[in-house]
Amino acid sequence: MPVAAAPRSRYDGAMSDDYRQLLDATIQHLEGLKSRGARHVAVAPETLRALAQPPALAPKPAAAGLKPQIQTAAAPAKTGPALSLPPRKTTASAPSEIPAAPVFSPAPRLAPGEKAAAFAALRDRALACVKCPHLAASRKTVVFGVGSPDAQLMFVGEAPGADEDEQGEPFVGRAGQLLTKIIQATGLLRADVYIANILKCRPDTPGQAAGNRPPTPEERATCLPYLQAQIDLIQPRAIVALGATAVDGLLGKTLGITKLRGNWQTYRGIPLMPTYHPAYLLRNQAMSEKRKVWEDILKVMEKLELPISEKQRNFFLKA
Ligand code: URA
Repeated sequence: MPVAAAPRSRYDGAMSDDYRQLLDATIQHLEGLKSRGARHVAVAPETLRALAQPPALAPKPAAAGLKPQIQTAAAPAKTGPALSLPPRKTTASAPSEIPAAPVFSPAPRLAPGEKAAAFAALRDRALACVKCPHLAASRKTVVFGVGSPDAQLMFVGEAPGADEDEQGEPFVGRAGQLLTKIIQATGLLRADVYIANILKCRPDTPGQAAGNRPPTPEERATCLPYLQAQIDLIQPRAIVALGATAVDGLLGKTLGITKLRGNWQTYRGIPLMPTYHPAYLLRNQAMSEKRKVWEDILKVMEKLELPISEKQRNFFLKA
């Protein structure tokens, strides 16, 4: 699969051709390493800092579409989120060597300005992606993701539908409205979490006026590096994988969502909770299925040490 050159971005006015070529070569080299199984490279903190400097990548004041992060207990919100989450436990600094064993170690946490620049660059690359020419030709928008890049909780779905393709935002249709209600039922806001999909483009349905189809394995594999990079930058404390495509895409497992849901899995060191896709709950209105999803979400709330009221605990239980 050819690696796309870094697309022209808003930073290009400050970027020399030499720097651009270097950036393209670096991206190509890193994607080559990744496709051969490497999960991290050793980069000295001072190199990381220097990498963030040259093209005048001034930190964005506030990334478009990206809302304030969940406020930690140490820094309470003045407005916004109804709830606060415990502060993240800080991780050790970047590893200085590539370990022999293929053990996942988290990417180094970037300083806020560096992270915003890296997130914006990733977004620019995804928005210009034409790796699946049929999807690039049929899409209206690339649906990158929405929410806080500092989110402690991330939701991953399958692929944009017609509404998402139209609006450029994941989970805004009927299933999305249900997901928003589920998020709010935890006491969090949609802007507190991060929402993305396995596929960033709507799967095309040639010859059909309406309808959706699941992504093919090739489309999933082609698009997955964008989601992996998003997760590496966000480093959420937990991921909720919505439905079989999200679970299979992230874990490479085909055990079946019915067996996996409600049981903690791990994705690159991050706890991952598989649960049913909200679209399934729209098709199957049984209270028992709603309760199963809610039980999965309660486990996630426990993992994140969110307060759980009696009312929340008893949602969908018969009196
Ligand atoms: N279903 C998904 O999986 N993702 C969306 O963004 C919308 C519906």
